[in-house]
Amino acid sequence: MVKVAPSILSADFANLKGQIEKLEKGGADYIHLDVMDGNFVPNITFGPPLIKKIRNITDIPFDVHLMIEKPERYIEDFVKAGADIITVHVEASVHLHRTIEAIKSYGVKAGVALNPATPLSSIEYVLEYLDLVLIMTVNPGFGGQKFIESTKRKIRKLRQIVDEKNLNLLIEADGGIKLDNYKEIVECGLDIIVVGSGIFEAEDIVERTRMFKISV
Ligand code: DX5
Ligand code: ZN
Repeated sequence: MVKVAPSILSADFANLKGQIEKLEKGGADYIHLDVMDGNFVPNITFGPPLIKKIRNITDIPFDVHLMIEKPERYIEDFVKAGADIITVHVEASVHLHRTIEAIKSYGVKAGVALNPATPLSSIEYVLEYLDLVLIMTVNPGFGGQKFIESTKRKIRKLRQIVDEKNLNLLIEADGGIKLDNYKEIVECGLDIIVVGSGIFEAEDIVERTRMFKISV
């Protein structure tokens, strides 16, 4: 069954505790935390202090998506805040292998994210060191954008590579995933879907979270 990682980017931040309880009831597998620096992406969100606060109210694993320049500067801060997976962008970290090793040295899982225009060849030589690859299916920066269809090809191709090489990594997709398109996207070969507005726009967040977990 596909795992669901709700992104709290679209949550009601004035009532974060209540919203996270609903995700728990709905069976969320991870909480996806979108960290933006106003530099790598044209938007600013939150950092380690907020993540640390949320760590006190839930045991769901934290999937931290860093949309920040030179993420290697902040790895330790996000580990201390309670991250279980730390994902950095290939476009934002020059010495990618070093950054991956730094994440793993803390006993945390390491992921790499690719923007829609970035080819899979950019991670060819680090694949074997990764726990997760995050395929961006929108240009990062905002919730509620439209899914980019050409990214399906990238997911299929990565699935093929992972199976052929028998690699032990998870494939995750992020952006524009809704009830009316998630099945065909999951079928491209995903292990995890990130869903933001597709969950938080619902009247009933618990029920909506459950709906995305239905096997395809
Ligand atoms: C986009 C973020 C996503 C976003 C997904 O930059 O990385 O995680 O919150 O939101 P939706 O599901 O609304 O596209
Ligand atoms: Zn994200």
